[in-house]
Amino acid sequence: MRRPFIAANWKMNKTVPEAMDFVYAFLPAVAEVKDRDIVLAPPFTSLFALAERLAGTNIGLSAQNLFYEEKGAFTGEVSAAMLEDVGCDYVITGHSERRQYFLETDETVNRKAKIAQGNGLSVIFCIGESLNEREAGMTYDVLRRQLRNGLSEVDVRKLVVAYEPVWAIGTGKTATPDQAQEAHKYIRDELRGIYKNDADSVRILYGGSVTPENADSLMACADVDGALVGGASLKPDSFEKIVKFKGGINK
Ligand code: PGA
Repeated sequence: MRRPFIAANWKMNKTVPEAMDFVYAFLPAVAEVKDRDIVLAPPFTSLFALAERLAGTNIGLSAQNLFYEEKGAFTGEVSAAMLEDVGCDYVITGHSERRQYFLETDETVNRKAKIAQGNGLSVIFCIGESLNEREAGMTYDVLRRQLRNGLSEVDVRKLVVAYEPVWAIGTGKTATPDQAQEAHKYIRDELRGIYKNDADSVRILYGGSVTPENADSLMACADVDGALVGGASLKPDSFEKIVKFKGGINK
């Protein structure tokens, strides 16, 4: 059985007081939700304060990025050990914004995933095709390359995969449930090629303009096990509604 997994990716939003205000409203609203994993991924600057506030609650903590070396002269970077030490359970790797604006490659994403796991973190590993790639009929080639190269030597037991079609991120253009299911099914089959039967226990999240209005129908798809939510995760009430999506549980 795959336990649903709903994560908020705040990207470069919220100061520490704003993050704390969110949690003040959000924690009581979801305190009784016990049948799914809930995770917040704030910017680095809020991790320490949120870790203290979320300790002992039903909400996990994720960073949005890390560097792929253990330590040393890498000005401005943050290591896996630092994230683990500050109280993170997860780290996002390979988000399309990092691939696009910070020139991350399958190789650097792979190194990040491995060093994160080596330091006790689980990885939320993002993949997805651009609009040009989809229109050129290359969606599956891109997903296969990102999975095979990015997941080399990555431990399946500390892995969550997020399918985020780049054309759906922050655009208000959500993949239809059929499009999402088709891609997720393909990803599950590829994961079987890599991890054999363990692929059935990997949560595959959908990301890209998830809202309270479309969450139920996306989460109902057989291979959609949760969501990675950007814009609609910034307000406690809208993220609460997504967390409390109906149906589609116990796949
Ligand atoms: P969005 O972002 O929900 O704002 O489209 C999702 C993501 O990038 O993780």
